[in-house]
Amino acid sequence: MSNSVKIALLALLAVFVALQLYPVDRANPPVTAALDLPEGEVGDILRDACLDCHSHETVWPWYSRIAPASFFVADHVEEGREHLNFSTWTTEDVESRDHMLEEMVEVMEEREMPLRSYTLIHPEARLTGAQRSLLIRWARERRAGLRSSESREPYDAAEDGEHDRREGRG
Ligand code: HEC
Repeated sequence: MSNSVKIALLALLAVFVALQLYPVDRANPPVTAALDLPEGEVGDILRDACLDCHSHETVWPWYSRIAPASFFVADHVEEGREHLNFSTWTTEDVESRDHMLEEMVEVMEEREMPLRSYTLIHPEARLTGAQRSLLIRWARERRAGLRSSESREPYDAAEDGEHDRREGRG
């Protein structure tokens, strides 16, 4: 190996080591207001394909500890939670839930979710057409339920939790 190649490799190694010093937030905040996941296949799909980025129950993979992969993973989780967070579901008002369910239908139809970088590494998150349809049907039913059963009066999360439990939805 020539000296210049050695120096280049050492420089690369130094950059790699330096990157590891960047702090990455891999916190899982407490789950206090989660959606009661539906039983059966819909719940399984959400768990296998969505919750890592859209809840506080992220299973952080080993490569999330190694920069630069850690930056991408933490970024996806942070952004994912901002858009849709099943762990804070019952604190959202009816309008926001309605909107999130609407967006869910859209990203399922357009095959935007789960992110491709995720399904590459998580085969259990590669959804079939039937699984997509199932999730779409669930989100639509849930939207219809929101509109028919909830008034637009000031929102009371505690009462709504009660309601969800009684009716088996939320
Ligand atoms: C690897 C992380 C990851 C996974 C897994 C994932 N998402 Fe996302 N999701 C994101 C990110 C990041 C965004 C925000 C940026 C974007 O829209 O691409 C997002 C945005 C969304 C949005 C909002 C779209 C909008 O335009 O506002 C919805 C709805 C959504 N995801 C649903 C899902 C569903 C349903 C699943 C499971 C089938 C899922 N996501 C799986 C990371 C993920």
